[in-house]
Amino acid sequence: MAKLNGIRKTKDGIDIYAPSDFEGMRKAGAVAAKILDDVIEVIEPGQATATIDNFVEQKIAEYGVTSATIGYRGYQHATCISVNHVVCHGIPGDKKITDGDILNIDVTVIVDGWYGDTSRMYVAGKLPRKSERLIQVTHDALFKGIEMVRPGATFGDIGQAIQSYVEGNRMSVVRDFCGHGLGKVFHAAPNVLHYGRAGTGPVLEEGMFFTIEPMVNLGRPETKILADDWTAVTRDRSLSAQFEHSIGVTADGFEIFTLSPAGKFHPTYSA
Ligand code: MF3
Ligand code: CO
Ligand code: CO
Repeated sequence: MAKLNGIRKTKDGIDIYAPSDFEGMRKAGAVAAKILDDVIEVIEPGQATATIDNFVEQKIAEYGVTSATIGYRGYQHATCISVNHVVCHGIPGDKKITDGDILNIDVTVIVDGWYGDTSRMYVAGKLPRKSERLIQVTHDALFKGIEMVRPGATFGDIGQAIQSYVEGNRMSVVRDFCGHGLGKVFHAAPNVLHYGRAGTGPVLEEGMFFTIEPMVNLGRPETKILADDWTAVTRDRSLSAQFEHSIGVTADGFEIFTLSPAGKFHPTYSA
């Protein structure tokens, strides 16, 4: 018997959660999003990614919640920080960010047993024009996917919406990593692909909780993993961006659990 986290499982093995479970996800998502708001104050040229990670780890302690990533499959940090051509799973370290760098910070917290997983883009110093376009398209691609979410739609509808938007802007969608179910666990069924064909894949039902987290490259979609066995980079070393929300399927659409309390999800906010 596969472990039941929600009230039942669909034939695709996807947990369905109860209406009362939304409140748990709301709290976890809000804390994760607040931390990504807080971290803005330490993003500046000259800052080491390990310093940014330490700041997040302190915030997690301050808010009395738990990091989902520290100890996860041997990972030892509160964040993944993916700079420039790093697609995802960048490991915080001594390397300093410099003017014009773009970075994704991904944080997952556990609050009362519920997982809140979100990531967004940040800029060190002045944002180059090409990077700005990449970030805008990636952000908007996430929302093209989210807008497909309602009972009766399919996961292929989400993938197709994201892929067609990205490729229409002459950028590429990473195939090697996907979103995932979450809730009482970090990573669960289904794999949420950011490409695909409308009408294919599992059908969405009220009470499903999952992430959508498209990674978009300015160049080709292929990635490779560095010798540290974590860091994923673009094979052609082109720039890559990513945004991630945790969302739930409601009776008539979706709820985003990881909305920025300060409205600063997109990095071109005025500070
Ligand atoms: N937060 C990532 C995700 O979006 C997973 C990071 S796992 C880690 O699914 F171990 F690399 F931190
Ligand atoms: Co995720
Ligand atoms: Co994440």
